[in-house]
Amino acid sequence: MSNWKHKHILDLSSFSLEDYKTVLELTNRFKLLPKSGSRKLPALQGRLITTLFFEPSTRTRSSFELAAKRLSADIQSFSPSTSALSKGETPLDTALTYVAMGADILIVRHASAGVPEQIANFFDKTQKQVSILNGGDGLHSHPSQALLDLYTLTHFFNSKKPSPENLAGKRIAIVGDILHSRVTRSNLWALTACGANVVLCGPNTLLPEDFINFSRKPPSGQTKDPIKHRGEITISRSLKEALIDVDAVFTLRLQKERMSENLLTNLERYHREFGINHENLKYCPRKVPVLHPGPVNRGIEISSEVLDDPSICLVEDQVSNSIPVRMALLYLLAASKNN
Ligand code: NCD
Repeated sequence: MSNWKHKHILDLSSFSLEDYKTVLELTNRFKLLPKSGSRKLPALQGRLITTLFFEPSTRTRSSFELAAKRLSADIQSFSPSTSALSKGETPLDTALTYVAMGADILIVRHASAGVPEQIANFFDKTQKQVSILNGGDGLHSHPSQALLDLYTLTHFFNSKKPSPENLAGKRIAIVGDILHSRVTRSNLWALTACGANVVLCGPNTLLPEDFINFSRKPPSGQTKDPIKHRGEITISRSLKEALIDVDAVFTLRLQKERMSENLLTNLERYHREFGINHENLKYCPRKVPVLHPGPVNRGIEISSEVLDDPSICLVEDQVSNSIPVRMALLYLLAASKNN
């Protein structure tokens, strides 16, 4: 933990292997807490954590709030519908208001990419000690979701020791609306950092060819990739081809609210070609786990039968793991404030 250097968590492109290990190890400790009889820790007593969600959320917001409570922090939530946003207040001024009330960590979700970063830059310039955690920004990034997906997968492959090396050389398929998925973008950083090879699968309109170069160069503002050897990214237009040889499958919702035009002609055809069901999972070499970040549209990207099949579907694990993962992230950010 002493090596943890992040004041904010905005994106995973700057995460080192050590960072992933730290998050996974701490998550595992928090996950085992209920077994030792104590669900709640005094670790963040007196700290104020504020969720600033300018976009709807079920899972992310409530699990962050529960994670904060489990660490004994005070938690304050902002609701766009009843706030002064409708009076023209900007996200930055909203953030300033909560920081003036003493927030130590702001968890920010916004429909536009870059808003959490803009807020973080502002507070860094004004030398405020507040940490910003990106709860999902536009199409850009959703780091805590990718970290809980990573924990769930590494735990699936070795429940005794969930660690990055459990994914080395594994082949992971991500299927569906890649273009509009900030979860996929964050997962690409995390999975390739751990040495997994990712095959992206979807129709042309939802999966542009240049995704193949996604993690090949560090994003703007960063000079160097902290990961020496990343796994490969490939693209497949055929689900059958993508599923041959896979070790795990991620499926994604069609994110219609993020589409600027109708990019699909027919939902039935989409389900037939890219929906995950027991029939096409037979292309996999063996029984493999299926993940989905939620919210789910049953019968479109995934069949109800697969979603409700606990022998392969890890969606419930993703949701329950989201609490210890988010506890770990809040704990690390709070600790970075003491340094
Ligand atoms: C995702 C999101 O908001 O990006 N959901 C989530 O946080 N669990 C995925 C989605 O919207 O489909």
